[in-house]
Amino acid sequence: MNVPASPSPEQVFDWLDTAAEKRAAAGLTSRLRPRGASSTELDLAGNDYLGLARDKRVAGAAAAAALRWGAGATGSRLVTGSTELHAELEYELARFCGAQAALVFSSGFTANLGAVTALSGAESAIVSDKYIHTSLVEGCRLSRTDVAAINHCEPAAIKHALATRRKPRALVVTDSVFSVDGDLAPLAELSRVCREHGAALLVDDAHGFGVLGDGGRGAVHAAGLAGAPDVVTTITLSKSLGAQGGAVLGPRRVIRHLAETARSFIFDTALAPASAAAALAALGVLKSEPGLPEKVVTNAVTLSTQLRAAGLRVSTPEAAVLSVRAPSAESAVEWAARCAEQGVRVGCSRPPSVPDGVSRLRLTVRADLTESDVDTAVKVISESAPAGAAS
Ligand SMILES: Cc1ncc(COP(=O)(O)O)c(C=O)c1O
Repeated sequence: MNVPASPSPEQVFDWLDTAAEKRAAAGLTSRLRPRGASSTELDLAGNDYLGLARDKRVAGAAAAAALRWGAGATGSRLVTGSTELHAELEYELARFCGAQAALVFSSGFTANLGAVTALSGAESAIVSDKYIHTSLVEGCRLSRTDVAAINHCEPAAIKHALATRRKPRALVVTDSVFSVDGDLAPLAELSRVCREHGAALLVDDAHGFGVLGDGGRGAVHAAGLAGAPDVVTTITLSKSLGAQGGAVLGPRRVIRHLAETARSFIFDTALAPASAAAALAALGVLKSEPGLPEKVVTNAVTLSTQLRAAGLRVSTPEAAVLSVRAPSAESAVEWAARCAEQGVRVGCSRPPSVPDGVSRLRLTVRADLTESDVDTAVKVISESAPAGAAS
């Protein structure tokens, strides 16, 4: 192979321009759109499902913790970064979800990286649903072991992969609520399959925690798997709790193992005290207002039903997330931009973040959406739909 002449320092990143041109040609350009603090947009794109991010009890707890403990955690969890707030948050999360123990990470992404890598390794096969979140996919890659990515929601295929694995141990990895269409994994069935084959089950409940199950205890709790000795759950504190950070919930020995071996826990500055305090306060609100989660699901179902009645191709939501199919990546981007011009912010999922390659508007709902918000959303989204979006 010919090695090209060495580029000059000015040319070293020329390849990035070529890559950007290719993305633009495929309709995959992204841009940052900073929002103002007092934006009046109707938000159907964020993850603040319970409307707690700006709740005074939650934001006030964050402000008080920053003044008391400082702006940052000052170090990793095993050095100076563990405060009494982190310990209290872990205790309360575990208790609420019915797990033996919990470990708080700086994000849901690092929680997933840590859980997958620390619970697999060379002696363990990983069997995952094909549509798992990118943070789990990256965890699978970093595990440097055999990974079988199985067709979406096919427990029989997972069973086959477990039965034919070449490694003594196995870890089955799934989302509870899938990020793009908001559909639900068959957790009880997956657990049965895991038990038949001596495998552990790792569930990312990022979109289920705070929305599904008794009082928002999550999809794992709803499936009767809370406290199970062979099930580990990851959550994020940045969606229903309106804060920041992530956590792993599971058997005490799993949590201890993660605290001592998960590299994304050990070599990462701990979650800021303000975020830990915000998550604790939000958990308190969730406990005192157990009707909030149900409102989220009701709003999602209402929005999807009305969009479908308007002739669009809409997923059937099980939690806060739903999607509307677009004819192409370019038309999805333009559609989302037209909605934004009319004051409705929607998400836009395109390759590579959609595993089946179908571009979509991605919508999320909140507990505090009003009837008039839903009417506005349906009017704006359906009237600005591109040709070919109708079913
Ligand atoms: C399913 C799922 N898992 C994990 C994450 C990562 O969580 P965090 O944003 O806290 O890093 C997300 C966030 O988008 C997610 O949707």
